[in-house]
Amino acid sequence: METMNRTDKVLPSAVEAIGNTPLVELARLTKGIDGRILAKMEYLNPGLSKKDRIARQIIEEAEEQGALKPGQPVVELTSGNTGTGLAIVCAVKGYPFVAVMSRGNSMERARMMSALGAEVVLVDQLPGSKPGQVSGGDLELVEIETRKIVSQRSAFRADQFQLQGNRNAHYLNTAREILRQTGGSLHAFCDFAGTGGSFAGCAAAFKEHDPSIRCFIVEPEGAAVLAGEPVTNPNHRIQGGGYSMATLPLLRPEHIDGYLQVSEAEAIRTARRLAKQEGIFSGFSSGANVAAALQLLQGQCRGSTIVVLLCDSGLKYLSTDLWAS
Ligand SMILES: Cc1ncc(COP(=O)(O)O)c(C=O)c1O
Repeated sequence: METMNRTDKVLPSAVEAIGNTPLVELARLTKGIDGRILAKMEYLNPGLSKKDRIARQIIEEAEEQGALKPGQPVVELTSGNTGTGLAIVCAVKGYPFVAVMSRGNSMERARMMSALGAEVVLVDQLPGSKPGQVSGGDLELVEIETRKIVSQRSAFRADQFQLQGNRNAHYLNTAREILRQTGGSLHAFCDFAGTGGSFAGCAAAFKEHDPSIRCFIVEPEGAAVLAGEPVTNPNHRIQGGGYSMATLPLLRPEHIDGYLQVSEAEAIRTARRLAKQEGIFSGFSSGANVAAALQLLQGQCRGSTIVVLLCDSGLKYLSTDLWAS
């Protein structure tokens, strides 16, 4: 049987292979539940995460604006995924790339970035922080080191927390692909926030298409600062977000319809169910997104079609306890 391809032409490089990911229905997970969950397989990007999209957009916007000169070093603070995307884009386009990352993130990420030609600078966690549990405080240390390296090397900072390229990548691409793939018929979107770039871009495009599409921020239980909750568990295991930062510059409050909380255990249980029941090998935050969508279907969005992103690959967590049982 002839199979359908993501693309049927030869591409000039791996950069052009970013995006256009499939959208699949999680019909096995929602069996017996009223409603549908449609999941965007972002882990099929060349760097195995949705962050390839923002790497390309940030670098290409900087090139267009003249903020990045040929051969100039690129530096960014990363939990690994943005760094991997930047390593790919910089390898193809010929920019030296320095990734600054907390030692608390899984080591698969550092190895992958090095393999892709990046220089990886690892920053120690705060005393008392645990590997695999990167807090806002740990990230502050990474931020200080990142600023130092940017200034020492006269580098371009691919600042994913500030630059609109992060939001634009999802506004221009991820969300439009979803609108095409669903024929524009979805009722809700929920997204685990790190920088908030995926949420900001997708929510803006969805609201523009149909203001009744409800958009929810997902946060870890015990670190739901955006929802205004006290932080009791800053060192949670859902890597890539939930950093307890009270403000995320890319977020537009008028696009947020509500906040959902997911426990570490729920995120892990759901990531394991995704693998065993749906054949989807993704990470902690993908588990969190799907767990939040299940909450919505069993609560305020009963009977709806909910879209989520499957942010990155389960391969990035082989050294963690995600796949322990
Ligand atoms: C695995 C993973 N999930 C979720 C996120 C959060 O995405 P965003 O920064 O778009 O909010 C990130 C961001 O780094 C991530 O790496």
